[in-house]
Amino acid sequence: MKIALLGLGNMNGAILAGMLAAGTEPSSVCATVHSEDSARAAEERHGIAVHSTERNPEANRNSASGADVVVLGVKPRYILTLCREIAGSLSPDAVVVSVAAGIPLGAMAAQLPEGQPVVRTMPNTPLTVGLGTVGLAAGPSVTEAQADRAAALFEGSGTVHRVPEDQLDAVAAVSGSGPAYAFLLAELMAAGGEELGLDAGLARELARSTVAGAGRMLAEPGVDPAALRRAVTSPNGTTEAAVTSFLDAGLARLLADGMRASAARSAEISREFAG
Ligand SMILES: NC(=O)c1ccc[n+]([C@@H]2O[C@H](COP(=O)([O-])OP(=O)(O)OC[C@H]3O[C@@H](n4cnc5c(N)ncnc54)[C@H](OP(=O)(O)O)[C@@H]3O)[C@@H](O)[C@H]2O)c1
Repeated sequence: MKIALLGLGNMNGAILAGMLAAGTEPSSVCATVHSEDSARAAEERHGIAVHSTERNPEANRNSASGADVVVLGVKPRYILTLCREIAGSLSPDAVVVSVAAGIPLGAMAAQLPEGQPVVRTMPNTPLTVGLGTVGLAAGPSVTEAQADRAAALFEGSGTVHRVPEDQLDAVAAVSGSGPAYAFLLAELMAAGGEELGLDAGLARELARSTVAGAGRMLAEPGVDPAALRRAVTSPNGTTEAAVTSFLDAGLARLLADGMRASAARSAEISREFAG
């Protein structure tokens, strides 16, 4: 299977690292970036062929041509231009996979040849450590085999969940934005520790390693977070005092409201791109 990664920044770079770790042959993958400097740095880092559009304006078209899967990993505002650019170079069976937030399947399909299989994904940054979570929505012309081909991209970097496209805003609110909620928790715990009299550096380190350790405990599929929480919450103990205080103050409502804001913003961005 030939794979072309158009754009090789944080997200496509993490997907590529996972694919190579899972045993993908480096010679079956090529990538493009904009600048020649980025191309050389990425070649050195990943050991695959990377072409720059700065040096060769045909780089995206050349890479897309003959690929079985073409992964669009540029910033959202460039995605539709990139679709237009490669439209004439794709083989009819090539699956176009977008990792861009907010660009609807229909908007991409409108720039591509009729019937081109298009898949939209919502990955998250834990992909960079092999613990990513990916929502994947397949367009109407995508066969099961083609959807599997798209999902296989994430084999070494994360877990894929197939959803209808209209659920991707909710997926963005849970797993897309979710890593930031965990980082915010670590920030706020550090501030709380400082308020209790700890040195700022120590409070930051305690909070960081605690959130990281708890994340590791949650990493096994099927683990129940409520069961883990109950296991560290003795009746009338210190943890129960904190958890009761959080819940009485409305933490559940606050989180649900924040996630509703995230999903609403995601839907708004999609509407902007849908024109
Ligand atoms: N980061 C996240 O948390 C996250 C989460 C979910 C989804 N995403 C999605 O992932 C996509 C990429 O984000 P990112 O954070 O990986 O961005 P990034 O690190 O800025 O990478 C963008 C890449 O696109 C390249 N590029 C720019 N113009 C190009 C062109 N005309 N042809 C080919 N390559 C070109 C850049 O090359 P140069 O280095 O030479 O400029 C760079 O390699 C976005 O659409 C975003 O919505 C990101």
